[in-house]
Amino acid sequence: MAFFEENTAEALPPQDLVTEITRLKKARNAVILAHFYQESEIQDLADHVEDSLGLARRAQTTDADVIVFAGVHFMAETAKILNPTKKVVIPDLAAGCSLADSCPPDEFGKFKISHPNHFVVSYINCTAEIKAMSDVICTSSNAEKILSQIPENRPVLFAPDRNLGRYLMEKTGRNMLLWDGSCMVHDIFSEKRILQLKTKHPAAKIIAHPECEEKILQHADFIGSTSKLLNYVESDASNEFIVVTESGILHQMQKKVPHKTLLAGPPEDASCACNECPHMRLNTLEKLYLCLRDLSPEITMDEGLRLSALRPLERMLEWS
Ligand code: 13P
Ligand code: SF4
Repeated sequence: MAFFEENTAEALPPQDLVTEITRLKKARNAVILAHFYQESEIQDLADHVEDSLGLARRAQTTDADVIVFAGVHFMAETAKILNPTKKVVIPDLAAGCSLADSCPPDEFGKFKISHPNHFVVSYINCTAEIKAMSDVICTSSNAEKILSQIPENRPVLFAPDRNLGRYLMEKTGRNMLLWDGSCMVHDIFSEKRILQLKTKHPAAKIIAHPECEEKILQHADFIGSTSKLLNYVESDASNEFIVVTESGILHQMQKKVPHKTLLAGPPEDASCACNECPHMRLNTLEKLYLCLRDLSPEITMDEGLRLSALRPLERMLEWS
């Protein structure tokens, strides 16, 4: 296969890329884990396509030698924290997360010090440094369950997503101190355009991810993590849905319910594809091929930091 290894991936036609990725995956004893927000061709090649919690569990228990994480950096980092003997690679090391970026460790450290009695619950969309400063981690799938296990008289500091935090306060009735972070994709949906779409499709159910703003969530018939949204379109009797989250999820939804109508939640600006995460979409089939070929870029981490971030992650998995 020297031919492929000496040529740029961009020169390969897509079919050859698929064949090569499949061959290399076997040769490397690798597992490809993909988030629902990845390009559809990456989802179709992955061994597992799941939400953040599902992918963390897969990463923890895999017996593959290499984890190829088709997602963003904090997800691949979580895989490394949970399963350090595996080589964890990501197609594009620059695939970050605006939500994780909205919580810089030095500022969060000061915030935490000024609230010493608070139990720190961090959404998994954060850096290893923030995880290391947390008591427990949660995802949008298990957040309510995690919160229910913290003694009621203990004040809670929730970071970094203010939208998810506010939603959880309303849902559980528990007051929390919120870090003021958010996701650039879930902040961009247009209430006006969603309601216009609903007027054109009155039978459609509005379903939304809890990272959306309150003005959007107030119109939702169902709110949940990506996997819960996927299950909902399958189990609910309706035939039309307005899906207010990153549009990559529509691929798996369409596969599960090809007979149903799925409408992507519109962003404020009608001319942009702002309901696609620019970080997630940095990963391409070409980069996935190169990553498997070169086993790079690799996720590496200081062992002290890893151990500090592991404790709250393990607690999350125990409590879920
Ligand atoms: P979940 O897949 O856990 O719902 O998370 C959504 C998300 O924003 C990932 O970046
Ligand atoms: Fe981060 Fe938002 Fe992209 Fe998810 S969709 S990776 S939260 S920026």
